[in-house]
Formats: sequence, C-alpha cells, structure tokens
Amino acid sequence: MSKKSSTKVKYKGIPEDLTLDAARKWAKPRVTEKRFRHIEGVAAAGKEIAELAGEDEFLSELAGWLHDGCKEWKDKELVKAAQSYGLILNDIERENGHLLHGPVAAFVARDELNIKHQDLLDAVAEHTLGKVGMTNLSKIVFLADCLEESRPKDFTDPIWNALKNNPNKKADLDAAMLVACDLSLEHLIKSGRVIHIKTVDVRNYFLSLVKER
Ligand SMILES: [Fe+2]
Ligand SMILES: [Fe+2]
Repeated sequence: MSKKSSTKVKYKGIPEDLTLDAARKWAKPRVTEKRFRHIEGVAAAGKEIAELAGEDEFLSELAGWLHDGCKEWKDKELVKAAQSYGLILNDIERENGHLLHGPVAAFVARDELNIKHQDLLDAVAEHTLGKVGMTNLSKIVFLADCLEESRPKDFTDPIWNALKNNPNKKADLDAAMLVACDLSLEHLIKSGRVIHIKTVDVRNYFLSLVKER
C-alpha cells in the first residue's frame, strides 16, 4: 500500500471515488468559511505530520478533511445523533454535546461516504478527546487539529518541538501527544471549562509511554 498522498488510491474500506477532492467537497457546505479554512489547515498539517512520521499521508489528509464535518451542529443535535448511533453517554457528554462532534462525524461520514476503514473512522472520532491505545493515524489527526496554522504559536511551538525532538529520527508522535494533552489541560483549567475524564486518562497514558522509554 502506498504511503504517498494521492487523489486516487485503493484502500480496503474506502470507496475509490472518495478522493481527497471529494472529501473537501463533502466538508465545504457543512461549515462556515472560517471553519473550512481550519479544516483545510488540518488536512495540510495531517499530511505534513504523516510525512515526518513515516505514516500514511493520504489517510491522514483524508481524516483531516472529514474531522470537523459536524462541528457546527448544535449541542442537542449532537447528543441526539450520538444516542441514535447507539453511543452510551456520560453526564459530561450529555451536557456538553460539542464534545461529541468527532464521534458523530465518524458515523455521518461512514454512512454518507460508505467508509468501512475503521482506523480512518476512529481517527475522526478521536480527534478531540483522544483514546488510550489510539493508533498513529489517530495521533496524527489529533495533533494536526492542534497544529493547524491559525493556532497560537505559544500552543503550537512546544508541540512541534516535541514532534521533531530528534532530527535524525521519525517524528515523535507520543512525545508530541503528551505536550498537546498538557497544554490542552492547562488551557481548559485556565478558561474554566469542563474536563472530560478521557482527557486525563489519555494524558496519563502518553506520560507513561514517554516515561517508560
Ligand atoms: Fe473538532
Ligand atoms: Fe478541528
């Protein structure tokens, strides 16, 4: 399987007509112009990180195009949709429906675009909260969401530095995830926002991975 980006590839579970351009066209009418520019940035960052990490550029960019397809749905709509897809929600998710925009986008993309590639769908679903044991593709999309170019430098620089901490080696996705989780937690606390228990679990997971080396 090619690891290079392409607009026409054969991947098991991804219809052949789901090109990067088709994914871009799927995303565009679902969001505002400003959000679309963010999505464009995440797709580009995903491709760049995948190249640095020696991972699949096409899948990383494709997930970037799809990841925020439901970002502008209302909280109530997201809760209703998540429940209709069979997700069991906790109190924080029921009260903060926006936290569900990743998992709901994965279901919507699966059904509308006929995607059966589970790692791709998981990467879309996990882009906000992450997951203990997440794949490299999921890490790339999570990091791309943090690193797209409109994010503030004091947030992105430490993550890029962790990612490229050894110029002779492939990008360090786990070290970058730890920094991204720490900075996100700091931001959530400073802005008085609720913290999903997964955010803490995922941070501790990457801390143990990085410490145990
Ligand atoms: Fe998002
Ligand atoms: Fe995003």
